[in-house]
Amino acid sequence: MNTLLFIILLFATFSSSSLIKRQDALSGFKPCNGNFPDEITIYSYSPNPLVEGQMATSRIAGKATVPIENGALYNLTGFYENQQAFQHVFDFCKIYVVPNSLTCPINGDYDFTINFPMDSTTNDPVNTSVEYDITTLISNPDGSVLSCIEGKATISYP
Ligand SMILES: *[C@@H]1O[C@H](CO)[C@@H](O)[C@H](O)[C@H]1NC(C)=O
Ligand SMILES: *[C@@H]1O[C@H](CO)[C@@H](O)[C@H](O)[C@H]1NC(C)=O
Repeated sequence: MNTLLFIILLFATFSSSSLIKRQDALSGFKPCNGNFPDEITIYSYSPNPLVEGQMATSRIAGKATVPIENGALYNLTGFYENQQAFQHVFDFCKIYVVPNSLTCPINGDYDFTINFPMDSTTNDPVNTSVEYDITTLISNPDGSVLSCIEGKATISYP
């Protein structure tokens, strides 16, 4: 191999891996207590904080050691001061997999990015930001929980 190309590749590999570590691939989230077979390796969203009523981008990557089946659920629950503030249950394959031109079941490494609207509701606060405790689960149609991470996320309400 051309030496210069080798050095460039080495540098690119080094800088991208250290960048991911520095930026925290899970955006401050961590695995839930317990045993979940499918590790989530990247979890990020933008803008950060999220803005109610605007489009947002979400990325999730991981390792489906146990395949994610058709009909699997993506269950996101938000808590504020230990009270459940919202819960969104989506069809994981429809929301994440199909927009990335793939189909379930998902086996092994996956990496999905989607755009979605942050729908506002009439109950939303106005002109403030709220930090929620978020739990995100992926479960198969048989009810088994494959992945679980939790952490804090802030939503800004214009
Ligand atoms: C979603 O997750 C919450 C806990 O985070 C749980 O109480 C609820 O039963 C789950 N819902 C579904 C449909 O899996
Ligand atoms: C929004 O909140 C800030 C700080 O709490 C306040 O100074 C400002 O006047 C508020 N703006 C509106 C339009 O209510």
